[in-house]
Amino acid sequence: MAVERTLSIIKPDAVEQNNIGNILAMIQGAGLKIIGMRMLHLSRAQAEGFYEVHKDRPFFGELVEFMTRGPVVVSVLESDDAVARYRNLMGATDPVEADKGTIRKAYGTDIGENACHGSDSVENAKIEVGYFFPEYLLR
Ligand code: CMP
Repeated sequence: MAVERTLSIIKPDAVEQNNIGNILAMIQGAGLKIIGMRMLHLSRAQAEGFYEVHKDRPFFGELVEFMTRGPVVVSVLESDDAVARYRNLMGATDPVEADKGTIRKAYGTDIGENACHGSDSVENAKIEVGYFFPEYLLR
């Protein structure tokens, strides 16, 4: 197994509902080490840049609106197989389909307001970690 890093975002809905601590506890409980963390209120340009891959999707405007609605917590997580480990912990994108015991089942509302984001591949994790934490990229 390889030590990986992945990017986590605790989204505005979870921050508004006071679930930062609960989600961080689930992250740590799953064996993911938090090695970098910032709380910030994304600008429109930051949110559009982060989700550029989705810019032609019909939900892009709604996604940017939501992600800039209030502060988020971005963090770099590290463990063996961190990308898959965090994606398993988050559960399905749509909280309705997420398994019991996952972050989105516990704290997500719907496919738009789904509490958290995690990188979907090792390759994208490098891009996403670099987007917020250029100094944390593994060399
Ligand atoms: P995330 O893992 O942050 O990656 C892209 C996000 O787009 C996704 O989580 C969802 O929050 C959002 N998303 C995906 N599909 C839809 C949809 N049909 N309507 C609104 N938002 C969506």
